Amino acid sequence: MAQRRSSMHGQWSSRWVFVLAATGSAVGLGNIWKFPYITGENGGGAFVLVYLVCIAGIGIPIMMAEVLLGRRGRQSPINTMATLAREAKHSPHWKYLGWSGVLAGFLILSYYSVIAGWALSYVFRAASGRFTDASADEVGAIFNNLLASPESLLAWHTIFMVMTMVVVARGVRHGLEKAIRFLMPALFMLLLIMVGYALNTGYFDEGLAFLFDADFSSLSGDSVLIAMGHAFFTLSLGMGAIMIYGSYVPEKASIAGTTFMIAGADTLVALVAGMAIFPIVFANGLEPGQGPGLIFVTLPIAFGQMPGGLFFGTLFFVLVVFAAWSSAISLIEPAITWLVENKGMKRATASIGAGIVTWFVGLGTVLSFNLWSGYTLFDKTFFDLLDYLTANIMLPLGGLFIAVFAGWIMTREATQDELRMRDHVGYRLWRFLVRYVTPAAVIVVFLEATGLLGWLMTVLER
Ligand code: PHE
Repeated sequence: MAQRRSSMHGQWSSRWVFVLAATGSAVGLGNIWKFPYITGENGGGAFVLVYLVCIAGIGIPIMMAEVLLGRRGRQSPINTMATLAREAKHSPHWKYLGWSGVLAGFLILSYYSVIAGWALSYVFRAASGRFTDASADEVGAIFNNLLASPESLLAWHTIFMVMTMVVVARGVRHGLEKAIRFLMPALFMLLLIMVGYALNTGYFDEGLAFLFDADFSSLSGDSVLIAMGHAFFTLSLGMGAIMIYGSYVPEKASIAGTTFMIAGADTLVALVAGMAIFPIVFANGLEPGQGPGLIFVTLPIAFGQMPGGLFFGTLFFVLVVFAAWSSAISLIEPAITWLVENKGMKRATASIGAGIVTWFVGLGTVLSFNLWSGYTLFDKTFFDLLDYLTANIMLPLGGLFIAVFAGWIMTREATQDELRMRDHVGYRLWRFLVRYVTPAAVIVVFLEATGLLGWLMTVLER
């Protein structure tokens, strides 16, 4: 057994806390806001199926790899990569994998915070009774007015960034653990209540059919890329968030067991959110493919009509904010740990600095919904571009290299030792997946989405 390191930043008090924290990172806007709207945009069932296959075949093995790397390195992803590469007698340039993760985290948080700001503003709208008996048109108008106002978006974005940095500044135990303990179960209960409402809309079957009837004829290469990218995004993979959380995991915890729980919970929340939202979409004649506003123009209709809707609606958006909060923390944690380790900063100073930079980049997203909405590149606004670049390109690429590192660079003994697995089927399957399947799948999907795969095929056929 190799010598065990310990993290200068602390440790989770038990493996349960790790499961909760990692679930807190995984379950966020990705599940409640993004999954429903991209499912709507990409035609439903077939897209959902590809997403589920990616979770099982790519996401789970990579999550195990990230936790493993994190716990073995016990430092910021940048230093962990450098240390483990040196240990395996490879180039310390692997640290750039850590760097690309830090960059991805910054970029994602910059727009994540703006969207979380929407949810924050909806807490107050719901509480003030704005949605009570509102028609679908009225609810839509409330959302459009919010987007049209850079001042409000900016104010809510600022509040959310401050909230995030306050928790990050307080550190692993005091900041992160406490909040997550009761939030996750509460969020799940509330989603179930929403499904209960959806059952009564009379359109539940339509909703289910949309989510689960797979029609592959309408699935483009780009949809497959989006489904794969989302598997990374929703599980917080490919940028070091799970790696840094893994660096706080106690020695004894089983990596495979905890990973299954985290991925299972995350997937369940996304599917339940879909089951709550799509029946409401169809019952009100709304467009499933209308984009990022989907939950903000559907769920308020339901809250406006159900008994106790004022209470449930307010509570729901509070919980969405908390889910986003516990994810946001993990987006910036890799950068913070590096600043503390290498620049000798205090956590609080590092948090303020990182927060200001992220906040500033977020201005681009704020403006992309109003003043800059006309400026597009490849038909995408600043927000769309950032989302596409991070979720569909940076995270899968990061994941690809993490898999290569765990499968090819680290020795068999090292990974086996860290996973605490004997040479059983489970370990062999994992190793096979990270060595061959995951890297190949990511490359094929990239080629497919860029149209290069088709071109390659025709060249090879000649
Ligand atoms: N997984 C989070 C969500 O679904 C987003 C996230 C991505 C968090 C990457 C950390 C790292 O909302």
